[in-house]
Amino acid sequence: MVSVGERQGKLLPYHFIKMKKQGKKIVMITAYDYFQARIADEVGVDGILVGDSLGMVVMGYKSTLAVTLDDIVHHTKAVLNAVPRALVVADMPFMSYEAGKDEALRNAGRLIKLGADAVKLEGGIEVADTVKALVSSGIPVMGHIGLNPQRHLVMGGYRLRGKCAKDAVEVLEDAEALEEAGAFAVIIEFTAAEVAAEVTKRLKIPTICIGSGPHCDGQILVFHDVVGLNPEPPMFVKKYAQAYEDFKNAISTYKIEVESGSFPTKDKYHRMKEGELQKFKELISHRRRRT
Ligand code: KIV
Repeated sequence: MVSVGERQGKLLPYHFIKMKKQGKKIVMITAYDYFQARIADEVGVDGILVGDSLGMVVMGYKSTLAVTLDDIVHHTKAVLNAVPRALVVADMPFMSYEAGKDEALRNAGRLIKLGADAVKLEGGIEVADTVKALVSSGIPVMGHIGLNPQRHLVMGGYRLRGKCAKDAVEVLEDAEALEEAGAFAVIIEFTAAEVAAEVTKRLKIPTICIGSGPHCDGQILVFHDVVGLNPEPPMFVKKYAQAYEDFKNAISTYKIEVESGSFPTKDKYHRMKEGELQKFKELISHRRRRT
């Protein structure tokens, strides 16, 4: 049943599990505003993540650590205004779920009440109990393992995961813990491709890769990286457009045209009705300016 205000064919977490069973690749991208969500949805992506990456690509922070729940709420509202058919996942920012299950429930609940279809949080075994509590309260959870940017300070930077066998086992154990806790999907970030492939083979829930090779059930990238708005994206990104250069050229041409007077042209503004200009001039001819 489609509820009031919901798009026909709306994708929900169980569709992702079904897609894995059918061997259909899942396509996800991040979005942070109305037009980004509209573009992504118009091309038919399966999932939109309102990621805490907004801290870096929207706010210009050096990391995602400063992002607040209010930031995610604000951008999730903008994305939801596009009424996407795609599954909308709202990211739980740093320190919105670590202090305890009650706080995690309150914060995740706020995102779901807004209209998000699921939440995502970073971590493996250490967050499994929290994931269980959220899922048993009716909140679908997407996990996020491998490189966890919210933990870059303790992980010693943004380092590739699963390079050695011991670390690879840890990634696999994290994935299994999340599946057991009830997560409906798991993102595997910046992890050796063989490890992502093994996790994908062993889990029933879909894996979504970012920088972890081609063997996951789906892929996700950051909007600004895909369209080339971020001129310095990570090594695993493929730029499908050159938005930074295109936007720069557009704004530079606009500046030149305003300065030279060639913008706006006659087709870009309206004029007064015939005879009204004369009346207007008469009306103001004896008028003194208010001081
Ligand atoms: O915040 C984000 O954009 C993410 C993706 C990198 C998966 O977590």
